[in-house]
Amino acid sequence: MKVLVTGGLGYIGSHTCCSLLDNGYDVVVLDNLSNSKIDVLDKIKEITGKEVKFYEGDMIDRAFLEEIFETEKVDAVIDFAAYKAVGESVSKPVEYYINNVSTVLVLLDTMKKYNVKKLVFSSSATVYGDPDKVPIKETDKTGGTTNPYGTSKLFVEQILKDLYKSDNEWDIAILRYFNPIGAHESGLIGEDPKGIPANLMPYIAKVANGELECLSVFGNDYDTHDGTGVRDYIHVVDLADGHIKALEKLEKEGSGLYIYNLGTGVGYSVLDIVKAFEAANNIKVNYKIVDRRPGDIAECYADSSLAYKELGWKATKNIEDMCRDAYNFVVKNSK
Ligand code: NAD
Ligand code: UD1
Repeated sequence: MKVLVTGGLGYIGSHTCCSLLDNGYDVVVLDNLSNSKIDVLDKIKEITGKEVKFYEGDMIDRAFLEEIFETEKVDAVIDFAAYKAVGESVSKPVEYYINNVSTVLVLLDTMKKYNVKKLVFSSSATVYGDPDKVPIKETDKTGGTTNPYGTSKLFVEQILKDLYKSDNEWDIAILRYFNPIGAHESGLIGEDPKGIPANLMPYIAKVANGELECLSVFGNDYDTHDGTGVRDYIHVVDLADGHIKALEKLEKEGSGLYIYNLGTGVGYSVLDIVKAFEAANNIKVNYKIVDRRPGDIAECYADSSLAYKELGWKATKNIEDMCRDAYNFVVKNSK
């Protein structure tokens, strides 16, 4: 099976390319390098020993997409290409809606033209807004997103549902990721955010590495076991494997629209993560408690039993693996 991976040189995309190649898929990558580097292509080859066909360009460009579909005759698409910085999305809503929604419309229209109707889409736990209860199930209410990034994922989910309703030959898996962290165990690929990281794990890793001084823990007065925010952290390699299982489902079942949470089902607080990181890497992480970050919620973790039941997928790596691999990547790649 030949798979087009849009945004395939990014954090989750690059790990998924490795899993696809390891599982015998042919891989074609489209990326405009807006948030990734071309040398990731060589790293993927180094890890897997396999070649990837690469197209550099923007998914908004219909002629470019058509050229790829015309040449490559792909069987399915995994769509990772999007912007993902929540804070930036608040100040640049138009750019975010164009890049996260309009591009998907161009992709879907092109897929339709070439009769490619198998799609795996990267969604996010952010579509649940502030959940009424945890663990969160796929059938729980969505909405109440507080920023254009989150809303863009909600919009695309709705577009995909409408598309499937109009033509049920489509075969679509919407994957709602919880908090992906960690890196490939080789340390060759991982999360490499530009500037100061907004997310917890990359920030901790840079504090440990001496690149940043001190972690600010955003609030210790939440209604959680130690007062700090609780999330469902998932190793990016487990997450990548979830895409293989989703593709297998699409190959097997014929047609349908499926939605799965990809998380571990376990919630860790910010201080749990700090302690786990210190223990896994035998290093101290300086931190201080500061005010809550606006828009943050107390607790968010998945009920991932549906993915296990229907895909046979569950996370296999633990928090120690996540902390060790995240730090290994930062140490190996620090300038
Ligand atoms: P990333 O920024 O590392 O990867 C996205 C890739 O897409 C980058 O390589 C970027 O250059 C490329 N890209 C962006 N816009 C493009 C366009 N118009 N045309 C071509 N290429 C384009 O992000 P990631 O963390 O790997 O996330 C992948 C997907 O998963 C995104 O859709 C993101 O919203 C979603 N997601 C991520 C997280 C997370 O915490 N990382 C959580 C939930 C959902
Ligand atoms: C982020 C995104 C969300 C996305 C999710 C999954 C934001 C605001 N939200 O959520 O849209 O779906 O990732 O990847 O970016 N924390 C600190 N100090 C820091 C950084 C974070 O204490 O320097 C805390 C936060 O308050 C939170 C936890 O760590 O309790 C995790 O934060 P983060 O990594 O940013 O992820 P989310 O906020 O869950």
